[in-house]
Amino acid sequence: MKTVVYPGSFDPVTNGHLDIINRASKIFDKVIVCVLNNSAKKSPLFSLDERVNMLKDVLADYDNVSVDSYNGLLVDFARENDINVIIRGLREVTDFDSELQMAQGNHMVSPEVDTLFMATDPKFSFISSSMVREFASYGKSVEGFVPELILNKIEDKYKSITGGCKNG
Ligand code: PNS
Repeated sequence: MKTVVYPGSFDPVTNGHLDIINRASKIFDKVIVCVLNNSAKKSPLFSLDERVNMLKDVLADYDNVSVDSYNGLLVDFARENDINVIIRGLREVTDFDSELQMAQGNHMVSPEVDTLFMATDPKFSFISSSMVREFASYGKSVEGFVPELILNKIEDKYKSITGGCKNG
């Protein structure tokens, strides 16, 4: 049985992430979506638990996809769960430098772990969680960017932070 881990900060999960998960679920026997903290991104909008719960909600129909979280290094999560394949989506060439660096670093510290890259479907290549947060923070709808199921969670989050939207 071949298991792959799809790691990310998922703050929040987008339709681009979902597309990668969906396609990976057809290639691998099992996909574990692992929510981690990205030390380069300070103060996530959603807590680890909120991000995990949103993913669980939107992935509920998949028999071979599960959601987990880890407070530490991705390679340690992989080792503890006997996983030796990581999958990451590549949206555009600018993703490549940092992704390659991360893949090579992870392989250096854990040679049994390999990273595979999946090309993002061009219709999702402009979508990022940070773009979603930016639009939503100004009260714009992010319909089409994220799964329908979590639209209200994003709106509610900004209402709870700002009591409305940034400019309103
Ligand atoms: O969705 P992101 O923010 O691009 O995901 C990046 C993530 C969370 C996969 C990466 O930052 C990560 O693996 N964090 C866990 C800590 C770790 O293993 N760091 C070493 C690789 S830089």
